[in-house]
Amino acid sequence: MTGELHSGAAVACANIALAKYWGKLEGSDNLTAVPSLSLTLDALRTMTRVTFDPLLSQDAVALDGVAVQGRALARVSVLLQRVRHLAKVELFARVESKNSFPTASGLASSASGFAALVVAAAQALGLELAEEVLSSLARTASASAARSLFGGFAALGAGAQAAERVASGAHFPVCMLVCVTDLSPKAVSSTDGMRHTASTSPYYERWVSESPALFDRVKQAVLERDFENLGIATEESALLMHACMMAARPTLLYWTPATLEVIRNVRALREQGTAVFFTVDAGPHVKVLCLPDTADRVKHALA
Ligand code: PMV
Repeated sequence: MTGELHSGAAVACANIALAKYWGKLEGSDNLTAVPSLSLTLDALRTMTRVTFDPLLSQDAVALDGVAVQGRALARVSVLLQRVRHLAKVELFARVESKNSFPTASGLASSASGFAALVVAAAQALGLELAEEVLSSLARTASASAARSLFGGFAALGAGAQAAERVASGAHFPVCMLVCVTDLSPKAVSSTDGMRHTASTSPYYERWVSESPALFDRVKQAVLERDFENLGIATEESALLMHACMMAARPTLLYWTPATLEVIRNVRALREQGTAVFFTVDAGPHVKVLCLPDTADRVKHALA
């Protein structure tokens, strides 16, 4: 496999966790300390082309037309190296990736990014890998990316190598409105934030022990199509995770006044009788969960 170009392309969608994970198993290869369950969002996409080229002397990565350097480049190269190893190939790759949404601001760009990367790279090298293997490879770069290999609802168990499908999107059609509150990149990456929380938050152990029960509630609500209980457990998971981060020393606070304003508006809509719930990841944006028949009304009310 030398002297020729080998190219592959893939699209992957971002996912937002309804039952969150925050924290890795110490000393592991990026295995998560708690189980998580996510909803894949068809509107937030990463499109990636990977070309293995004998003329390259190192991997070259561009995201939205801008060259990626340093730690972010190294993270991509490590994943490419795992795929090269499986294919027994030594060629470097050119990676061109585009997001349909703001990158690195808590909008799950690493999830769709690493999922698209692993699928495109495997395709470029002619590897036919099972979904489970692709998910496990994506997980080594970003645990949330393991879930983006699947549409609909996907789960990643605590300590699990790969994610698995829980239910299709058609099983329980729900909508998620992404309220973008800030366009700047986030100040603390999720990897650094998790490490800091695990080592300094007095609530971290409690978060780890409470999370499996929250995961079970979220999963059961998805399987039973119980929107009310899904929303309540989703909010509890996000609030427990943020409370744990906020209690870290020094505090890890991703929220801005706009984050709180959206949360207050969601709660006001609920008090007026609309079934609507929020979740927040490692960034200031608020993701709002509602049913398809109320989505336009909720969008209008929050805009
Ligand atoms: O795996 P990462 O580095 O993309 O971190 C994801 C962390 C959260 O989005 C806050 C939670 C989750 O389960 O996706």
